[in-house]
Amino acid sequence: MHKRRNAGSKKENRESSLTREKKRGFNLIAPVYDFFAGLAFFGSLWRAQSHFVTSLAPVKKTLIFGGGTGRILVELIEKSASREYTYVDISEKMLSRAKKRLWELSKTRKSMPKVEFICGTQEDIPKGKFNTIVTPFILDCFNEADLAHTMRQLNDRLLPNGAWLFTDFYIAEGSIGYLTRFVTRTLYLFFNLIGALRVAQLPNFSNAFSAVGLIPQKEKYFLRKMLVTRLYCKSLDA
Ligand SMILES: C[S@@+](CC[C@H](N)C(=O)[O-])C[C@H]1O[C@@H](n2cnc3c(N)ncnc32)[C@H](O)[C@@H]1O
Repeated sequence: MHKRRNAGSKKENRESSLTREKKRGFNLIAPVYDFFAGLAFFGSLWRAQSHFVTSLAPVKKTLIFGGGTGRILVELIEKSASREYTYVDISEKMLSRAKKRLWELSKTRKSMPKVEFICGTQEDIPKGKFNTIVTPFILDCFNEADLAHTMRQLNDRLLPNGAWLFTDFYIAEGSIGYLTRFVTRTLYLFFNLIGALRVAQLPNFSNAFSAVGLIPQKEKYFLRKMLVTRLYCKSLDA
């Protein structure tokens, strides 16, 4: 019994030091993230994640998980309509950029939705359900096992008939698939080196969504099928 408690607290310590390391890694790249992400993929990372924003229905509550420097938050406020946003990101440097963007936006608008910023991980998403969940290039930060767990956590928070806007890398058939594998493995090498991630290869996102019972309603590929964005809808009887 005593031994088991020790094992539990050791695991907690390891997990929190891992989280601290990831936080440090993403804090490190926050000031240059947008510039290099835009440059490296010719703006396609942004085009992909913003593509279905106008397809989102007006709702009460939206969760943005891993939104980074907040460009997606501004886009959602300007082009879709949610009365409340919960913005969860592990990096306080990313969050402070998102807050600054929101402040700039507030100066140009008569009314603003309520936005709650949370510096934390999937474990820190507040209790309660969301009509919409947005995950732009964050699910690639998990290995298969952690992704399965996180998908269940996110799906539990999604209301029946809710929408999940997912955008990430895609491994296509043929030579473009080899190129994407090479590119993502190179990115993982960099992110592992700076301590932001402990992942070696892209998880299978389609399987992860099927496992929680979600099927895509809309889908679009970018950058010769290196990127994909999908709009999932949770069934009414889920
Ligand atoms: C690859 S960046 C993408 C940022 C943004 N979505 C974009 O496309 O510009 C991943 C983002 O997820 C955040 N992140 C990574 N792991 C996380 C976790 N476990 N919980 C919350 N945020 C996380 C990082 O701080 C970073 O802002």
